[in-house]
Amino acid sequence: MVKEKFPEVIKSPESSRVYFDHNATTPVLRSIIENSSEWLTQWGNPSSIHWSGRGPKKIIREARKKIAQKLNCSPLELIFTSGGSESNNTVIKGVYESFEQKMRWSPGDEHRNEYITTGVEHPSVRKVFEYLKSKGKTVHFIPVDREGVVDLQNYQQVLSPRTALVSVMYANNETGHVFPVKEMARMAREAGALFHTDGVQALGKTRIDLKEWDVDFASFSGHKFYSLKGCGLIYSKTGNILHGLIQGGGQERGRRAGTENTLAIAALGDAIDHLNDEPLYSAQVQELRNSIESQVLERISGVKIIGQGTNRIGNTSNLIIAGVDGETLLMNLDLQGFSVSTGAACSSGNPEPSPVLLAMGFKREEAQSSLRISLGWQNTQGEVNEFVEKLEKVVNKLRSLKDSNG
Ligand SMILES: Cc1ncc(COP(=O)(O)O)c(C=O)c1O
Repeated sequence: MVKEKFPEVIKSPESSRVYFDHNATTPVLRSIIENSSEWLTQWGNPSSIHWSGRGPKKIIREARKKIAQKLNCSPLELIFTSGGSESNNTVIKGVYESFEQKMRWSPGDEHRNEYITTGVEHPSVRKVFEYLKSKGKTVHFIPVDREGVVDLQNYQQVLSPRTALVSVMYANNETGHVFPVKEMARMAREAGALFHTDGVQALGKTRIDLKEWDVDFASFSGHKFYSLKGCGLIYSKTGNILHGLIQGGGQERGRRAGTENTLAIAALGDAIDHLNDEPLYSAQVQELRNSIESQVLERISGVKIIGQGTNRIGNTSNLIIAGVDGETLLMNLDLQGFSVSTGAACSSGNPEPSPVLLAMGFKREEAQSSLRISLGWQNTQGEVNEFVEKLEKVVNKLRSLKDSNG
C-alpha cells in the first residue's frame, strides 16, 4: 500500500497511541498548523472597510471559492457556521420558520406542515425534529432495519403534498451506512418538498458533487475532515430562502450573523483542497477497515458486523461483540493504547445504549455490546494487526470474567 501520498497530520501528544475514532474528530493537517500563524496575523474584522478588514476578507473569499469549486456549487450557495450541529439546526429550524411565517416557496405551499426524517439521525437533527413535534408538527421518522437500510416504501407512503422538508443523513456516523440520498431527494422533489442532507460524515470519505446530489441543503463540519473545530458549512441551493438561526449583523448575506472565524474558515479551505485525492485515500482506508473485519471474524466468535454487505463509507466498522459490555471494552482498549468508541462521541459518558442502534431494532443488550472503529489517513496495517490481537485478548478476558462471576 502506498502510504506516502497521504497529507501529513499532526501526531497526538501521546504518539504511541493508536487513534481509531475519526468519526468523532480527526487530527489536524500539518499544513494548517504551518499556515496558522500567517492567517492569525490577519486579525482584522472581515467586515471592516478599512485596511485591517481587507486581508481577512480576502482569506475568506478565497476559501469560499476553493470549497465551492471542490463541492461543485456556487460560492454564494455556501454559508460558514460554527459546525455540523449549527448547520443542521439552522436548516431545519430555518425551513420551519419560513413555512410558519408563510414565506411561501411557491403557491400552495402554505399547506406544507409535515416533516420527514429517519430514526437514526445525529442528535443535532433528531432533537430539532422532536422540538418541531413539541410545537404540534407532524414528523414522520422512517424506519431503518438492522443493517442500516432505510424503508423506501414507508418513505413513499409518508411523502405527500403536505411535506415541507425531508432530512436524511448522507452517511451514518455510527455504522457508516450510506443512504440513497440522490434517489430520496428526487422523490422529495417530485412531491414538491425540500430536501436536506447531513453530509458531515461524507466529507473526505466519498466523492461530493452537490449538483449531482441535487439537494436543497447540505451540512458539513471542518473537524471531521482534518480541519479545526468550531467551523462548518451549509450549502443552500440558489433560490432557497433560509431564515437565519443567529440574527444580528449582515454577515453571510444575512443568513448567519456573527464575525467570521477567519482562521477556521481558511483551515477548512486548506483541508478541502485535498478532496482531489480522496478516492485514493478512501480506497486505502477501506482496505484497512476490511482487514480489521476479516481478522476479527476469523479470530473472535459471536461478532456481528453491522451492515457489512451494504453500502458503507470505507473507514467505519461497527461490531456487536456478544457477551461483552462496550464501555468496559472501550476502557480496556484505552489502557492498551487504542482509541475507539461505543457510539456517537457526543453521547459518551452516557450509560444509555446508542439510540441509533435501538432505532435499528437491536435489543438493549446488543446495543450495549457495540464497538465503533473509524479509521483515518495516518492508520497503518501494523496498527490494525496489533489492534485485532489486543481486541481478541481483551474480549477473551472479559468473557471469562463474566463466566466466572456467573
Ligand atoms: C452525522 C453528524 N452530524 C452532525 C454532527 C455534528 O457536527 P459538529 O460536531 O461539527 O457540531 C456530527 C458529529 O459527530 C455527525 O457525526
